[in-house]
Amino acid sequence: MTNLTGRDLLNITDLNPTEIKTILDLAIDLKNGKQEFNCKKTLGLLFYKASTRTRVSFSVAMYQLGGNVIDLNPSRTQVGRGEPIQDTARVLDRYLDILAIRTFAQEDIQTFADYCDIPIINALTDLEHPCQILADLQTIQETFGQLDGLTMTYLGDGNNVAHSLLLGGVLMGMNVRLACPEGYLPSSEVVKQAQALATKPEQVVITQDIQGAVENAHVLYTDVWASMGQEEETEQRIPIFMPYQINQNLVNSAHKDAIVLHCLPAYREKEITDEVMEGSQSRIWDQAENRMHAQKALMACLLGLNK
Ligand code: CP
Ligand code: NVA
Repeated sequence: MTNLTGRDLLNITDLNPTEIKTILDLAIDLKNGKQEFNCKKTLGLLFYKASTRTRVSFSVAMYQLGGNVIDLNPSRTQVGRGEPIQDTARVLDRYLDILAIRTFAQEDIQTFADYCDIPIINALTDLEHPCQILADLQTIQETFGQLDGLTMTYLGDGNNVAHSLLLGGVLMGMNVRLACPEGYLPSSEVVKQAQALATKPEQVVITQDIQGAVENAHVLYTDVWASMGQEEETEQRIPIFMPYQINQNLVNSAHKDAIVLHCLPAYREKEITDEVMEGSQSRIWDQAENRMHAQKALMACLLGLNK
């Protein structure tokens, strides 16, 4: 049996395909009431950026696992006043059983991981959003009954979500196409990493050919055009990204059974139209719900509850 006890999740590639499958299968079992756990563990949440879904879904998931949650709001903890991460990490390690962090620099969660023995979870950085992608893969698996061989097209900014989606999708045997404007491409390091993981060249496509990217896609995915920390670029990005909007015309060019995903929060009539968000092919609300099931399964695995 796959044993993830004590491991960190800093990048989606910290997990291999078997480990991702273990988490997704457990998430689906937990969702369907086929498994439950009763632990006395404590999760810390240290979020330097805003969050609705991640904060609430982690909190409810830990409550339902029988544990406790402490919200370590940086504005009310000493780390927000300049206490070094190295010191904060070693102290929190002695109190908590697991810690989820949302911040800017990937290096900062790496420092937490270096100074903590407890599992550290990346709850979003500028580089990656691995927890989001676990819920996305769960949603795709539930819809199509498989991941391997499906085509997923992401349209928009080559950001944290795009990075984890590319790597996670390729790991699970999907073909992942990223349609991003010039100047807003995913990190070349991440693309190289995805190409190295791919078993077929068509598994990784980075393009400005929007129609070509959407053709026959089973999953259409988008995210905000300006991420947290880039708010001042919002207006300037609109004309650049408008051709990449997911609207009904674009959805009609995809596979006839295609589903539409968005990690949320969404800006209607910008990266996605209201019609598509509320339309019959949208799985966005199931996707948001799955954050809770996927993270419950993830924590159960990292805490060794499933052994
Ligand atoms: N998708 C996501 O991570 O949402 P929040 O920013 O609300 O947590
Ligand atoms: N790319 C977005 C995702 C929000 C969940 C951001 O980083 O703000």
